Amino acid sequence: MSNLSQISSDRPLLLIGCGKMGGAMLQGWLKAGLSVSAVKIVDPYLKGVRELLPDLKEDCFAEKLSDLPEGLVPGFIVLAVKPQMMDDATAGLKAIDCTDGVFLSIAAGKTIGYFERHLGANAAIIRAMPNTPAAIGQGITVGCPNKNVSASQKAVCHDLLLAAGIVEWVAEETLIDAVTAVSGSGPAYVFHLVEALADAGVAVGLPAELAKKLALHTVSGAGALLAQSDQDATELRINVTSPNGTTEAALKVLMGEQGLGKLMGEAVLAAHNRSKELAD
Ligand SMILES: NC(=O)c1ccc[n+]([C@@H]2O[C@H](COP(=O)([O-])OP(=O)(O)OC[C@H]3O[C@@H](n4cnc5c(N)ncnc54)[C@H](OP(=O)(O)O)[C@@H]3O)[C@@H](O)[C@H]2O)c1
Repeated sequence: MSNLSQISSDRPLLLIGCGKMGGAMLQGWLKAGLSVSAVKIVDPYLKGVRELLPDLKEDCFAEKLSDLPEGLVPGFIVLAVKPQMMDDATAGLKAIDCTDGVFLSIAAGKTIGYFERHLGANAAIIRAMPNTPAAIGQGITVGCPNKNVSASQKAVCHDLLLAAGIVEWVAEETLIDAVTAVSGSGPAYVFHLVEALADAGVAVGLPAELAKKLALHTVSGAGALLAQSDQDATELRINVTSPNGTTEAALKVLMGEQGLGKLMGEAVLAAHNRSKELAD
């Protein structure tokens, strides 16, 4: 049985920020069986939240933390606002009794140290790094707990993050910068691959619209095949590369000394360095 059953109306889940990510995760939690009575949502743009979740009762929503009912003691506080709004969100939380609760942040760049400074050194905090396919439940998220998080809090947060896709954990927070450089920023690398493949198709004579369509479906189809296959990327690549064929000719360029491996290494290193610079 899912650990989400540990979330109850006595110790509800408080979702702060119900935009693209918070909203998508909330829909996933409700689908996974989280009781509506066990959720409180705070977001200044209530019209959008109501449109997204027309079946939720009015007392589930509040525009501001200060509008929440008195005596509310949330057990799970999910922070899903933009990083630049996090100071406001954590300041508002000071008026709420979060005793024995766990804070789960999905905000890029906001470190465990940041939350300990704003919420107290004894606060149980999980910093998680999802990626954009999380909006359709196909992301991959890496979580990192601080020392105050109990095993049962971590188990519930694991199930909460499952709504965004696959979940992995690291004990070392510094690894989150590397995760950011690979999976956090990674979807943009794949989108750029589609752009580059389409441009290359145009260069060899294809009409632009057809080249775009071929590139998109080649990348999404190959990704779906890889995800469903028992074989890994290397095996699948070898299987489609006939000796002296067209694929081999292209891969000699892509896998050459100045090829994609070198470029990707430089790109990920640049993202890694930038992630360390931006950490707050
Ligand atoms: N989108 C992704 O795929 C993705 C991937 C990785 C990480 N993340 C992280 O996820 C977090 C949310 O991103 P998002 O794309 O979902 O952003 P978003 O769509 O802008 O959602 C944030 C929501 O929070 C609301 N909000 C702002 N200040 C608030 C406050 N003080 N209290 C409560 N709610 C408040 C915003 O309302 P207003 O619009 O009215 O300000 C908005 O509805 C970010 O920290 C981001 O780093 C997102």
